[in-house]
Amino acid sequence: MKVTVVGTGYVGLVTGVVLADMGNDVVCVDNDQEKLEKLRNGVSPIFELGVDELLRSTIADGFFRVTDSIAEGTKHADIVFIAVGTPPGPDGTPDVTAVKAVAKEIGRNIQHYTVVVNKSTVPVGTVDMVEEILIGQGCPREMFDVVSNPEFLREGTAVWDTKNPDRVVIGSRSEQAAAKLAELYAPLEKPTIFTDPYSAELIKYASNSFLAIKISFINAISRICEARGANVQDVAKGVGMDSRIGPKFLQAGLGWGGSCLPKDVAGLIKIAEGSDYDFALLKAADDINQDQTQHFLRRMEKRLGGFTGKTVALLGLAFKPNTDDIRDAKSLEMIETLLSKGAKIRAYDPVATENVRELWPQVDYVEHVYDVSDGADALVLVTEWNEFKSLDLSRLGACMKQKVLFDGRRLYSKANAERAGFEHFTIGS
Ligand code: UGA
Repeated sequence: MKVTVVGTGYVGLVTGVVLADMGNDVVCVDNDQEKLEKLRNGVSPIFELGVDELLRSTIADGFFRVTDSIAEGTKHADIVFIAVGTPPGPDGTPDVTAVKAVAKEIGRNIQHYTVVVNKSTVPVGTVDMVEEILIGQGCPREMFDVVSNPEFLREGTAVWDTKNPDRVVIGSRSEQAAAKLAELYAPLEKPTIFTDPYSAELIKYASNSFLAIKISFINAISRICEARGANVQDVAKGVGMDSRIGPKFLQAGLGWGGSCLPKDVAGLIKIAEGSDYDFALLKAADDINQDQTQHFLRRMEKRLGGFTGKTVALLGLAFKPNTDDIRDAKSLEMIETLLSKGAKIRAYDPVATENVRELWPQVDYVEHVYDVSDGADALVLVTEWNEFKSLDLSRLGACMKQKVLFDGRRLYSKANAERAGFEHFTIGS
């Protein structure tokens, strides 16, 4: 099938290369020339497992190309995906300016029946907005249908998730458009939900918000565990073995960050407000999340007797492992608080360092992981990178002023940390 994807962020680019890998004729559109240049050379502008390989192979096989022209992309395709950013506005309402601009340009250039697909996470009713824009550009109603087809990929495992989704959601008022999208996804052989566009738009917000609530719930339980001497890992295991609940997203830690959960939680709170509903449950989940890292910092401050003049070593900066994305990363909140309270910071991350350096040049970034703890008063595990699991804790501790470990992701067992001579603090026990 002939497919165009507008926007080459995580969602757009990964969707594009995976659809190309499935044998579709894909054009990806972006207005960032630097990105396009990289893409043309088979280099992914995002750090994401497997994308470079798919880019190179699909370009070589003639299934993938890029352009800066939405007009060209629209004329090329039977299906045009809108996959541009919808960042939160000042009050949390998603900003759909980019979606509007792209829809205008698509509307001006449709020359044959085209399915226009909203892949961006957009507020309920955006489908109508896009339809109106297309009509406003003079595009005859019978020439297009607008479909909502939200994406559920996670950063770090985006390619795998796109090839192996739990479900495909197709929100369409037109059977013709739904059938076309179903045909596109048929090779994945995954369960497909056909629904109306509003429900599809809401499925995305509800899914991300439910995941956030699940994490905040276990983080709230972790506070009780700490107070009562219970162990949150065992509690989560026992709770998660109930098949009605399930074990995933019950990992207590520093809280949820990234470009999606915080944005979509804020977005759904606003959507609820606009629907005359006060979503107190979701607000509470957000409050718990806001306090989670601060609570951990208060425990650190208490143990260290204040941060002034102390050196704190951070292991991990990315918002989660296997990505260089630092949007809403807990490391940033930690750095801000620690610096404001007079601490010195040394930090190591396998790939996200340069992104954080731009924001916080005053931090001492080390190139080799074992240098991070040199002279430190505390070692803090912020991101649970796989490679950190097998670190030699004794070696890390050997050069520290005080061997105190604050494990924000429950990566190390108390026994192992203590065997290496560390005083061990973690979330939820
Ligand atoms: C999330 C959703 O999981 C995807 O399904 C969705 O498609 C995506 O947002 C999006 O809307 O684009 P992502 O933000 O990439 O994906 O990352 P997650 O794996 O969901 O992690 C989010 C945050 O929750 C991270 O900060 C992570 O450390 C934290 N987390 C996750 C926990 O603290 N505990 C857990 O048990 C799981």
